[in-house]
Amino acid sequence: MYNHIHVKNGHLFIEDCDAAELAHRFKTPLYVLSEASIREKCTRIREGFLDKYDRTYAAYASKALMTTALAKLVHQEGFYMDVVSGGELYTALNADFPSDQIIFHGNNKSPEELEFALKRHVGRIVVDNLDELKLLSQMCNAFNRKAGILFRITPGVNSATHAYISTGKKDSKFGLPLDEDILFPAIQFAIEDPMLDFYGFHFHVGSQLFDNTAHVKAAEVTLELMRVVRERFNYTVPEMNCGGGFGIKYTKDDEPKDVTYFTDAVMAVIEQFCETHQFPRPRIFIEPGRYLIGEAGVTLYTIGSVKEIPNIKTYVAVDGGMSDNIRTALYQAKYEATPIDQPFSETSQEVTLCGKCCETGDILIEHLPLPEVHVGEVIAVFATGAYNYSMASHYNKHRIPAMVLVNGDAAYEIIEREQYSDLTRFDRIPDHLK
Ligand code: LLP
Repeated sequence: MYNHIHVKNGHLFIEDCDAAELAHRFKTPLYVLSEASIREKCTRIREGFLDKYDRTYAAYASKALMTTALAKLVHQEGFYMDVVSGGELYTALNADFPSDQIIFHGNNKSPEELEFALKRHVGRIVVDNLDELKLLSQMCNAFNRKAGILFRITPGVNSATHAYISTGKKDSKFGLPLDEDILFPAIQFAIEDPMLDFYGFHFHVGSQLFDNTAHVKAAEVTLELMRVVRERFNYTVPEMNCGGGFGIKYTKDDEPKDVTYFTDAVMAVIEQFCETHQFPRPRIFIEPGRYLIGEAGVTLYTIGSVKEIPNIKTYVAVDGGMSDNIRTALYQAKYEATPIDQPFSETSQEVTLCGKCCETGDILIEHLPLPEVHVGEVIAVFATGAYNYSMASHYNKHRIPAMVLVNGDAAYEIIEREQYSDLTRFDRIPDHLK
């Protein structure tokens, strides 16, 4: 199903690493990432978009997965970085990521976060609302730093995805609506404020999309806005950021399109517009998160119990769960999985793969076809690279799994396994309880 997954001598391999050896060496639950898969996706974006069109840029949306090693890899591939918090910004800087190639998003950036971004010369701040615009302008003056800004707008388009990850609608906590009396005074302010460099507009219409309609419509809305801004303010907006959202293959039923299906369609609209209106082609950014990293991830779990409830169902319980992958519980996400010592072999039952959290909804996969499996076997869940580790929690004081980056036959621990002592590291005891 994926280029980096193979079966050799009846064993599951991730690149040239035997999954059984990884599980033995690094223990389970374990997040495994294929470096080749990430680099292949980067190459596709480079060849299909960055090299094909002038003045185009791709920023990795690090909310999908952020580790210091990954930030290094993304930089090596020539990508920019999208961060949404002081913590992601800190991690990027910890990897010596060039701050002028960082884009800072977020619908409620704190004064502390903005100060951090300004002092470290972050290249772009995507302003989400009017309060932030005011605050940022004051802070630029206070710290005597200029900021390059874009406005996140809600282009008013619906995208065909789960409601929780559809973000282009007008009724959204993100971004400025296109209303005359809200957006235009903000634009005027940004143009006139000597401490702000007004670069342009950003939209992100949703996530895990297989259809380019929302991107194309949002681009059209944004272009029209740029035309009006030129007309009204005699200001030519130099940049447009089209967000991410490009869908990936979680199961065999998913038929994701290549990134060029989105980018070519959007670029066609932009180029046509620029020609018609004699508009200089703006710099164009995209911000893929899941597309770069999702399919590269595999989670290895050990089966701890196989419980057959006669005439009802069989629960196969593993040593992780919603604490390392909350996506099934949160979005009814679908995954596929196979036992690593009998990978993709003929199946004889449908089971419910569940975790070990004290929560009935702690299900990883419903209706998972499996051969007969036993306690102690290791099972691999595919396409867990995006929004698994980054959304993990210590619920039930479970330790968040370690993460390994596989490169050919080598494997490197890029997130160390947590110890029990890590779980009480921040606990403090008031004197009267000592
Ligand atoms: N840019 C912005 C401004 C975003 O808000 C997002 C995602 C992205 C880029 C990257 O989107 P991607 O290419 O990864 O689809 N936790 C959810 C996904 C939330 C996405 C939020 N924003 C999930 O697990 O499906």
